[in-house]
Amino acid sequence: MDIQLTLTDRGNILASGELEEKIKNAAPILATAVAGDPQYEAFQGWRTVDESAGPERVQFLMEHAARVRMDCDAFVVIGIGGSNQSSRAAVKALRPKDGPAILWAGNTISACEMARTLEELDGFRSVYIDCIAKNFETLEPGIAFRVLRQYLEKRYGPEDAAKRIFATGTPGSTLEALCRDNGYTFLTFPERVGGRYSVISDVGLFPMAVAGIDIQALTQGMRDMRDHLFTAPAEENLALRYACIRKLMLEHGYSLEMLAFFEPRLDYFAKWWVQTFAESEGKNSTALYPVVASNSEDLHATGQFIQEGSPILFETFLTVETRDASVVMPHEEKKDYFDYLEGMDFWDMNDAARKATIAAHSERGFPVLEFTIPAIDAHTLGELYYYFIFSCYLSCELLKVNPFDQPGVEGYKHYMFKNLGKPGAS
Ligand code: PA5
Repeated sequence: MDIQLTLTDRGNILASGELEEKIKNAAPILATAVAGDPQYEAFQGWRTVDESAGPERVQFLMEHAARVRMDCDAFVVIGIGGSNQSSRAAVKALRPKDGPAILWAGNTISACEMARTLEELDGFRSVYIDCIAKNFETLEPGIAFRVLRQYLEKRYGPEDAAKRIFATGTPGSTLEALCRDNGYTFLTFPERVGGRYSVISDVGLFPMAVAGIDIQALTQGMRDMRDHLFTAPAEENLALRYACIRKLMLEHGYSLEMLAFFEPRLDYFAKWWVQTFAESEGKNSTALYPVVASNSEDLHATGQFIQEGSPILFETFLTVETRDASVVMPHEEKKDYFDYLEGMDFWDMNDAARKATIAAHSERGFPVLEFTIPAIDAHTLGELYYYFIFSCYLSCELLKVNPFDQPGVEGYKHYMFKNLGKPGAS
């Protein structure tokens, strides 16, 4: 088990034995999740990992990705929400080298962004795209896909363009029909896997493979984490522990959980975490609002609020153990008053800032959670994905909300489609 979780509760917010009691009472929820809850049968394609991302499928995706990588120097991932967050998080965190540039589209309706993407693509020799959309009714990916495939057709001609177009959707969807009719390559968005859980499928894995991420290691990380969480008893189960701590924080009056970290390359992983928890849990007027602090930058902004603002949040730190880069503070003849740091590595300064932040923030009496991970690599990232997905599922069960739907998202869509004159929208 590569991930460690510690809770510092200097203010004694939790009574002695309170967490243990919560975990004991939640044990049946873990047991049901492990056995497979029949009420969610239609949404559990991600649970085993192998159903949606088994070794054969991973091999298949790697072969397709290798073909793309031989020719492509810009790959555009079109998608929004659960459909693009996981691959973007991995690409930004792992920063694979020697692959095509990965661009993101279909996650905004901004004319400025669409125009910028088209302009940027002109600077690349060979462009490929992948439109990811579960039911292919979502506006953002739909309109971006139309613009980008026309761009490819104009630039390369219809036949060559078709070889450059991938789409990932549900079998039987209108997106599949579009691919079939026009010779695009169609990949699978499994029926039994929802957007937020789709990192465990072609949706997240194909763009990662094109970028050059080792998706064998990543899915092995998922499998290892799954095996651990499915066999660890309730009192030792880290996913259940996290879900129970979060529930207790809510019961003790906290409204926000802030995921804080000191490696900005985790910014998009944190966005994925927000997406996973906010869209899964934010129902029935309950649940923690997930927010993010990318430090040390955010210490100069929200750090003030944490130290002295309304006592509404607790922090969860994500700490990376391995020293993965080194820049040493050089000697300087000119007087700048930073000599006390001469010879010190940026890595150590960052670590000192992290420890200082945890000390200062927990001094206020807020509970502080800390996840420690060995490194930011493909295997660990796979573990983290599965860990947070499974924790989120358990957390939803504790809140008694459906982890797999998102009815609230339809609210704005109703008015937007009406404003846009969509047929049938009133
Ligand atoms: O998690 C979810 O289900 C959502 O965030 C969806 O992924 C998002 O709304 C995009 O949906 P679709 O892939 O159908 O366009």
